[in-house]
Parts: sequence; C-alpha cells; structure tokens
Amino acid sequence: MFRIGEEEVAAVRETLLGKRMWRYQRDSQTERFEHALSRKMNTGYALALASGTGALIAGLTALGIGPGDEVLVPAYTYISTAIAPLAVGAVPILVEVDETLTMDASDLRRKITPRSRAVIPVHINGHPCDMDRILAVAAEHDISVLEDACQSVGGSYRGRRLGTIGEMGAFSFNFYKIISCGEGGAVLTRDPVLYERARIYHDSGLCFFSPGQEVPVPLFAGVSMRISEVLSAILNVQLERLDGILDDLRTVKRAIGREIGEGPDWRLSPMHDADGDCGIKLGILLDTPDRVGAVLARLRTDDFPLGLECPFYSERHVYINWEAVLEQRGAAHPLRNPFREMPVPYTDDMCPSTLDVLRRTLYVIVNPELEAAAAAEAGRKVRKALEG
Ligand SMILES: Cc1ncc(COP(=O)(O)O)c(C=O)c1O
Repeated sequence: MFRIGEEEVAAVRETLLGKRMWRYQRDSQTERFEHALSRKMNTGYALALASGTGALIAGLTALGIGPGDEVLVPAYTYISTAIAPLAVGAVPILVEVDETLTMDASDLRRKITPRSRAVIPVHINGHPCDMDRILAVAAEHDISVLEDACQSVGGSYRGRRLGTIGEMGAFSFNFYKIISCGEGGAVLTRDPVLYERARIYHDSGLCFFSPGQEVPVPLFAGVSMRISEVLSAILNVQLERLDGILDDLRTVKRAIGREIGEGPDWRLSPMHDADGDCGIKLGILLDTPDRVGAVLARLRTDDFPLGLECPFYSERHVYINWEAVLEQRGAAHPLRNPFREMPVPYTDDMCPSTLDVLRRTLYVIVNPELEAAAAAEAGRKVRKALEG
C-alpha cells in the first residue's frame, strides 16, 4: 500500500549518478534516514539494515539471546518471527493469539518456563498488541521484549509508537509494507549498548569502515546485512509520506467500518488500541468459518473494489505451515540445529484458539486511495453480504 512517485526517482538518480551507493560515504543517506527515523519514533537510536528478518536477528543478538534460550512468538505472524530465534541458536515457543490476532497475554504467561529469555510480540496487520499486559508478564519473569513492528510502521499503542515500547523494535520496508524500498529494515532502541551490539552484528567489517562507538562494546563476529544508499535514498522520501498514508488508511477503514457495524453473528474485530491501529486491514469476526466462506463468495461475485482475505489461508503467516519449525530443522547443518539440544514437541493442533479465530475472521484489505463515497459504498456491500 506504499506510495511512490517522482521524488523517489530523483533521489535514486542523484545517488546513482553521484556514485554514492556506500553507507559510509560522507553525507550518507542511510545516516540521514536513521536520524530522521529515530527522531520520528522518539527513540535514541535506529539502525537501518537489509531486511526486517535481519532486524529481528540483530535485535535478538544484541539482547544476548542464544543457545539454551526459549523465545516466545505468536502462532500467527510471518514465518520470519519464528525463524529469527533459530538463527541465534534459541528455539521459538508458540503462543496463541486473541481475537485481535495479536499475542494472547494470558497464554504468554502460561507458556513461560525457566528457559524463557525473550518475547516477540507482533503488531500484525498494523494492529497494536496488548502491550501493557505483555510488558507486565515480561517484567514479572525478567525476559526481554523485542517488538516485531514490521507490519506496523507508524502505528501506536496508548500514545507510544509501535516498535519503541519494548527494549528493541524491528521494522520492515519490504514490498508489502506501509513504506517500502523493495527490501530493507530497521532496529530501534533507546539503549546505546544494545544499539552498538546490533550495529556490530549487522556489519562484520564495521571497525574498519565506521568511526568509533558511543559506548565501548567489545567487538564480536557479525555478518553483513548493510543497507544500500540507493534504498536509503528511497526511504528518506518514503518516511515523509508515512503520516499521509496512515491518515488515509485510517479514514478509509473507519468509513467502511461505520457501514458494517454489528449484526446477529458478526462484529468488527476488537483492537487493543483502535486509534493506534494502522488501518491496513479491517477485520470482521463471525460466529462460524462457514459464514466467512459464504460472505467471501457473495462479495467476490459483487464487483467488490477491495481485496478480501480469510487469514487462516494466508499460508506463510499460520504456524501449521511453518515446515522448517514444525519438523525441527532449525539449521542447514545438524550440529547447528538448536532443536538438537532443545527439542520442542510442536503439533498442528497446539494452538487451537488461534486456528479457530483465524478461520472466523474475514479481512477487508484497505486501499488508502479510495474516495470517501466509494469507501462507504464498499462498507454497504460488505454489510449486504453479511446479512445474506
Ligand atoms: C510480521 C513480520 N515480521 C518479519 C518480517 C520480515 O521482514 P522482511 O521480509 O523485510 O525480512 C515480515 C515481512 O513480511 C513480517 O510481516
């Protein structure tokens, strides 16, 4: 749903023709973006890197998560959230989602063990998680909170930006996101030590290219997930567009939702903070999966102007389809497989509430370009289909 225009083309052109593709050159686009992002999000630090997955792995690395540790992740999220713990040698523990399709804080509490070291709440589809309760559980058990805000850049929870509430947060700027440069990500934190550790991890050659650290952190072996200046040039323009896109998404979503309202066997999906929701998707919760199928079928024959989805069928986001995790193949080399030391008894039916609510949810995918009258008309069509 990102927007793109001549401004991005001009920024790329200038970067390319100036042969300025390397983030450690003077007047770096990447540094400019990192400063602008940390200012906008009100965190002390932001590190831009190659992807949202990279941001999650760098975040877990910075937090010191590793072999022997369990990381709690929701059973409904993009598969990367569950893969990131494996990349640092830890194992993912699946937590149910509630009716908002974000992590169920009660189930989080139930799934904590003496090996729990971190939780990754995911603000999926731009919907804020139940952060007060999640933070309380995390504090009680002294575990770190790394927010996966890959799908929710710019959203908020009770006035605080998503991705800035826990110790660290991860953003993605891939092709499907609110703002995009094709592929990219960022890690956010207020802690200078965590920032330095993420920075060291994201660039194995950092000490040769980049000036000194703000706080002395011993170097360790990292990888290379630097972002290109060409992508950062795009992101600098994209960031300027963020507020406008969010305003439009939210306006269109509200206009559709007003028409749908509530009925004998449906209601709008609840939210932990409706004002902070990004407005990407409008969820409708029905009593049975059959009803979702019937409503989808009706709308698809009614020239409906927006995308529609039952999230149970969005394969890569539902745990029952995460083959590498369920089959406990946590690494290419068997000796590096975290499940070797810590097997986890995953089963297809281990998160039944998640599967139930996914099957009973119908998403209308919001288009921020829709005019007010067209949005209201779309809402009326949904209501008609719901009324049968
Ligand atoms: C919730 C979530 N987490 C992590 C990621 C990973 O981001 P990337 O594709 O930039 O690696 C995504 C991307 O789709 C995502 O939606």
